[in-house]
Amino acid sequence: MTHSLPILAVLISGSGSNLQALIDAVQDGRLKARIAVVVSNRKAAYGLERAARAGIPTRYHPLKPYRDVGRERTEYDADLAVILAEYAPDWVVLAGWMHIFSDAFLRHYPHRIVNLHPALPGTFPGARSITDALAAYQRGEITQTGVMVHLVPDERVDEGPVLATRTVPILPDDTQDTLAARIHAAEHDLLLATLRQLIESRGKKE
Ligand code: GRF
Repeated sequence: MTHSLPILAVLISGSGSNLQALIDAVQDGRLKARIAVVVSNRKAAYGLERAARAGIPTRYHPLKPYRDVGRERTEYDADLAVILAEYAPDWVVLAGWMHIFSDAFLRHYPHRIVNLHPALPGTFPGARSITDALAAYQRGEITQTGVMVHLVPDERVDEGPVLATRTVPILPDDTQDTLAARIHAAEHDLLLATLRQLIESRGKKE
């Protein structure tokens, strides 16, 4: 049977709670797509377990073997594009993917790579955005933070055409954990809502 559903490849590096939100939504019909593969660059990523439990094929693609023999990141990126080509994804979803892609990967999926970032556009790029937002709040510089979903057009980190944002309040007694929990809950909702809109409007690759 040909799969008429749009095909997603989801890339992770950690717990995969956002991946789990997508898996649950596919299983209960809220997301009309098929997650064809989950790729992690970290073997210990719990998200690989989540995928396996859901019967989704997983691939492990570490950077270290390239670095150990002096091979370029661009070779790693190009090889990952070859791996993904086996699944012919219509969308590549970076759900906690902690690796900055070069054009050697990006060029294969123009306007089709979606990244989730736990901060509002133009604020707190990189891997410590929740920590940085809490510190800025405690210094009195901000009163709230947020999350965003954007397209990944080029090698800029956590930038690109913004598809959706949601503000997240910071509370006076927040700790890193309480704020992170509130942020991740917002991410789960926003990523799903944004992918639903993308799939309704631009479903399968031309
Ligand atoms: C999320 O906050 C994502 O925005 C960031 O890393 C976290 C991944 O969480 N890039 P999870 O692995 O989906 O639980």
